Amino acid sequence: MLDDTRHRSTMARRTPLHARPREGFRASGARDPRTRSRTSGVEGNTRLTSSLGALLLILLFVEGLTLLSIGSLLTPHIVIGVLLIPPVLLKMGSTTWRMVKYYAGSREYRHKGPPAPILRLLGPIIIVLTIVLLASGVGLVVGAPVSWRAQLFTIHRASFVLWFGAMTIHVLGHLVETAKFAPRDMFPYTRRQVKGASARQWTLAVALGLGVIAAVAVLPYAANWRTGLLG
Ligand code: HEM
Repeated sequence: MLDDTRHRSTMARRTPLHARPREGFRASGARDPRTRSRTSGVEGNTRLTSSLGALLLILLFVEGLTLLSIGSLLTPHIVIGVLLIPPVLLKMGSTTWRMVKYYAGSREYRHKGPPAPILRLLGPIIIVLTIVLLASGVGLVVGAPVSWRAQLFTIHRASFVLWFGAMTIHVLGHLVETAKFAPRDMFPYTRRQVKGASARQWTLAVALGLGVIAAVAVLPYAANWRTGLLG
């Protein structure tokens, strides 16, 4: 008798098969890991955006380090700056997709809701500043007539100052979310909760691969730019 009750209570603790979804999961909006999702596009999108955010955080940090001695680190500055362009474009794509789905009235994107007001306001500003920063950098290295260099240089530096301010708020505003969602496609337990983990990881790998190809292609220009600068 005693063994049987002890046995049943142990079993109940171990496998609550038919228990109601734990309050924690429902309250946090995260998906109960025991249920496999078919339609969770919104979490798939958040995972992709957060993984890109984590990747960009690392690349932007290294790019920032080159500014500490830009004279001697100009080539790595140019190469990393070009390498991160495809991941940045993909990030703009995944965040624009969320915005379009939200305004198109998608139930699950509406359920997730918009970003916090300051982040929502900064979104388009960050996109414009990033395009100006990266385009002026590329323009300086690969093509602009020498007569444009001084203006492009000023645009590159001025947009960087504005971009850095906006990006600091963006990163601080999304750090917790990035830490929460970026690793989820890596671990088997959370990976299988939302369809498309391999597709998301391959998309990221292709974007990074395109970045490496572009970085290799820009190397000769970076070397010429240096000699042009040094006369
Ligand atoms: C040049 C680099 C970047 C650009 C152009 C960019 C752009 C954007 C834009 C336009 C949004 C939508 C508005 C918003 O929710 O704030 C967004 C969302 C987001 N960003 Fe960034 N971002 C960049 C870098 C980063 C970095 C470094 C992180 C890592 C901390 C990050 C993490 C996120 C996250 C987690 C979201 C919300 C994802 C969601 O809930 O769907 N971003 N980003």
